[in-house]
Amino acid sequence: MSAGTIRPSAAASAAALAALHRACFDEPWDEAAIRELLAMPGAFAYEAGEPPSLDGLVIARVAGGEAEILTIGVRPGARGSGLGRRLLEAAAIHAAALGAEALFLEVAEDNHDALRLYESSGFYLVGIRPGYYRKGGVPVAARTLKLDLAPPPEAAINP
Ligand SMILES: CC(C)(COP(=O)(O)OP(=O)(O)OC[C@H]1O[C@@H](n2cnc3c(N)ncnc32)[C@H](O)[C@@H]1OP(=O)(O)O)[C@@H](O)C(=O)NCCC(=O)NCCS
Repeated sequence: MSAGTIRPSAAASAAALAALHRACFDEPWDEAAIRELLAMPGAFAYEAGEPPSLDGLVIARVAGGEAEILTIGVRPGARGSGLGRRLLEAAAIHAAALGAEALFLEVAEDNHDALRLYESSGFYLVGIRPGYYRKGGVPVAARTLKLDLAPPPEAAINP
């Protein structure tokens, strides 16, 4: 399977997802935390690359007609080639298929690469949470972004 192929993650991927999360974030989630997230009702994940060394992940959750990206990351050496955008699209399509009308996420206001990705994917600002993150002890605001999701074609045909 090509490293660029995106597929749904199974619980068995939890260790590989945790290893990738560690490569992407200063405050990584361990295998147990990822396993717990994946077991939540409405939770789903997609991954790219070959376990145990994955290139990309997205974990999201649908609840009450809304969805949230819980985390998204691409291995540093694989960034800038469109993988993050494709993972985001996979999550949006999956969330819409589960009935979500909107997809939300929180992003640190100084995370410029991620902000460019989200804004060019149609996300827009709906809120600011001052001091939501701390980086080296310094408070950093979170921006809450929203993407309006189109209903899946079946819903239009059989409302
Ligand atoms: C944010 C992240 C997932 C993007 O993944 P990616 O695979 O590099 O993203 P893509 O290659 O799909 O880029 C999508 C867009 O983002 C922007 N972008 C991404 N990386 C960029 C970079 N290094 N320089 C400039 N723009 C960049 C561009 O606008 C790009 O648009 P383009 O395809 O028209 O050029 C990745 O940088 C990452 O894992 N960061 C660390 C973890 C993180 O911050 N996650 C988000 C938490 S909210």
